[in-house]
Amino acid sequence: MANLTVQAFGKAFTNPVIPAAGPNVGSGRLVALSAEGGAGGLLTKTISRIAAPVPHPNMARFGKDNLLNTELWSELPPEAWFEHEYGLSLDAARRHNLPIIASAGYTRDDLTELGPRLQAVGMDMIEFSFHYLDPQQLVDTAAALREAVSIPIIAKLSLHSGDLGEVAALLEPYVDGFTCINSLGPGLIIDPESVTSPMGSKFGYGWMSGPAIKPLALRSVFEVARATDKPVIGVGGVTTGADVIEFMMAGAALVGVCTAAILKGPGVYGKIAAEAGQWLDAHGYSSIDEVRGLYLEKYRVGQRVVTGLESAARVDPARCKMCTLCERVCMYEAMHAPVKQTAWVEEEHCAACGLCISVCQFDAIELVGRG
Ligand SMILES: Cc1cc2nc3c(=O)[nH]c(=O)nc-3n(C[C@H](O)[C@H](O)[C@H](O)COP(=O)(O)O)c2cc1C
Repeated sequence: MANLTVQAFGKAFTNPVIPAAGPNVGSGRLVALSAEGGAGGLLTKTISRIAAPVPHPNMARFGKDNLLNTELWSELPPEAWFEHEYGLSLDAARRHNLPIIASAGYTRDDLTELGPRLQAVGMDMIEFSFHYLDPQQLVDTAAALREAVSIPIIAKLSLHSGDLGEVAALLEPYVDGFTCINSLGPGLIIDPESVTSPMGSKFGYGWMSGPAIKPLALRSVFEVARATDKPVIGVGGVTTGADVIEFMMAGAALVGVCTAAILKGPGVYGKIAAEAGQWLDAHGYSSIDEVRGLYLEKYRVGQRVVTGLESAARVDPARCKMCTLCERVCMYEAMHAPVKQTAWVEEEHCAACGLCISVCQFDAIELVGRG
């Protein structure tokens, strides 16, 4: 099996799949279960100087595997973490020989008070989230935490933080790496029968996570990895081993999993890591390092953009399994897939949109020059 070990932040992670901050790591017991579930490193739920006033209810599923949440940071006061939960978490990290990251937020004062305590208790690194949107306040916060601790610090970015490439470049002198992205929102779900929201927040709003936000997370990782050489933890919708490969190709060093761990349990970390290993084996790679940054390097300066109709879809008859899906999605009526016959393209109607390529499960369609 391919080597899944990742060296990042001066530590060895046994595989690239770690928990992302959330209820999945909301206590020492749950952190220990994450280690038993095969996570390649550990992370503890975000704490702040006060316990979070979390509305109830605060989680609801939408679509197949997505969540809306209004959970904020830990409902436990910091003392509960320092007196009990961190002890259990650190024990699990030592027993399983895993690096451990403490998540904390949100203001400069919160972080300069909590940072040294997290270092003293034995945390390997700190991931910090913030509510500031003003770039100068952000830089001041990162600089103050940098002064306060000597362990690695990782800035967790959200799409609401502004242009992520610019934010990463601003923070780079002070931090050891980045996590992208936090949940997105706020959003709203309405149950039309009862005219209610499943969220207990004031207006029923919540924040989106899961596969629905994966394209945004991948783009963010790519953008940050393009702006800095520091390690990036990719978070947002990771559910399968193939997702891990995509994040690594975009430039991530590690990936974080929250929603999938909530919906499927702590065994999901090891399962996703094993799937990533199987993907590497099946594609002839001997280590996860070999796929890291493949997309980043290929697209770093951008590709040539074709705006005219230079090409059209073509079906490879040897690969077509006559499933007719391409015809059903072709709104230009250029694709023809008569029952039990190989699909074919009426080139004059083909708009080279690529949709048929994206739905074909048999790699039977490509865009080629016209004529
Ligand atoms: C219920 C819930 C609680 C969360 N709590 C935190 C938190 O305390 N701190 C934090 O930085 N991110 C928090 N997040 C965001 C996740 O860490 C992650 O960035 C986001 O959900 C996207 O990843 P996912 O699609 O794997 O869930 C939370 C997410 C969920 C769903």
